Amino acid sequence: MAPQWKPLILTALLGLVVGQDPGPFDPATANIPPMLRFQCNQLVIDRLDPLVNPGVVPSPHIHQIVGGNSFNASMDPKTHDLVKQSGCTSCSFSEDFSNYWTAVLYFRARNGTYRRVPQKPSEGFTGVGGITVYYIPPLGKANTTAFRPGFRMLVGEATLRSMPQKYDPKVCHRCMPKTGDNNNLNCAPPDGVTLPHKFCEGGIRSVITFPTCWDGVNLDSADHKSHVAYPLDGSITDRFDYDGGVCPNTHPVKIPQVMYEVVWDTTMFNDKDLWPEDGSQPFVWSTGDENGYSQHGDYVFGWKGDALQRAMDAKCTGDVCSVLESQPADKAVDCTIDRVVQEDDINGWVPELPGSVMKR
Ligand SMILES: *[C@@H]1O[C@H](CO)[C@@H](O)[C@H](O)[C@H]1NC(C)=O
Ligand SMILES: *[C@@H]1O[C@H](CO)[C@@H](O)[C@H](O)[C@H]1NC(C)=O
Ligand SMILES: *[C@@H]1O[C@H](CO)[C@@H](O)[C@H](O)[C@H]1NC(C)=O
Repeated sequence: MAPQWKPLILTALLGLVVGQDPGPFDPATANIPPMLRFQCNQLVIDRLDPLVNPGVVPSPHIHQIVGGNSFNASMDPKTHDLVKQSGCTSCSFSEDFSNYWTAVLYFRARNGTYRRVPQKPSEGFTGVGGITVYYIPPLGKANTTAFRPGFRMLVGEATLRSMPQKYDPKVCHRCMPKTGDNNNLNCAPPDGVTLPHKFCEGGIRSVITFPTCWDGVNLDSADHKSHVAYPLDGSITDRFDYDGGVCPNTHPVKIPQVMYEVVWDTTMFNDKDLWPEDGSQPFVWSTGDENGYSQHGDYVFGWKGDALQRAMDAKCTGDVCSVLESQPADKAVDCTIDRVVQEDDINGWVPELPGSVMKR
């Protein structure tokens, strides 16, 4: 249904508030689906991974984490109540105590030392680093079932180092222009699964797209993936097309589309004297991967009560939603936690990437 909006969803997904000439945004005439899209500031940068390596301190590689401040190394799904145990959230919606995290980008200078690439909010938002988070309900009349407490999921693979056969990418990168967006669908050109290998005036953007179908039973699974699925006709364009995107009968329940957008501010490295003389790729994920395949997104649901369900049913758009509570931007920025793994210097030049990652 409604194939005519397909070419437009690109504007929706990534240029919603920004775009090259956004003008006043009017969802009624813009023909784009309603979606929450909001800033979550940096909660902490730490070597922890309560989803894949619960209780392991330090975890194999560094992550950047946003959301509720109950985040810690273990987060046992049976006992850890993100809402009750959080005192604040770094996200603009103050009822969202979920945690969201990804790998961290590093730059390797020609002398072989590494430096963490800082993040900046997506254009149009203010704040400190972090992630722009999306929740997209199905278009039209289809209902969305918001996640339940204890729900978690993972997209991407930290160990991936090359392009698998039959690869339908869910994690992509774009070399951003100084301002505006190239107005394309994520994971379609100019997006690539590999990391850009040039100066990017607007930084490098990672986009991570989560599945939209759930088995309706399991809050998690051994690989943190098999309890959810992408729609059957989940090609790049159809992935966002809920009306056409049919959930497989093993995973019949439509869940909100979660999506992360992370902008790595590479501009301080746009200096040819810093780049390796042999022409090798200076950007490398905290996993040790300089190709780009290993970026990943982790999600632990933690919205208060039925807040997310209300927002999905109300088909709210952007970061203002009458059925949700918001907090001032400075309050969200103030919500941070101390690093647990203190030995890693995350702000200066370091001789090696932190952790037990593949070294060059
Ligand atoms: C994480 O938080 C829970 C709940 O507050 C607590 O019981 C647990 O000990 C904490 N785990 C770590 C590793 O800090
Ligand atoms: C490596 O290069 C960076 C950037 O020029 C510089 O700041 C740093 O001091 C250098 N480190 C060493 C060990 O030479
Ligand atoms: C959505 O949910 C409402 C309320 O439960 C129900 O009346 C309606 O039929 C559902 N719509 C679809 C398309 O399933």
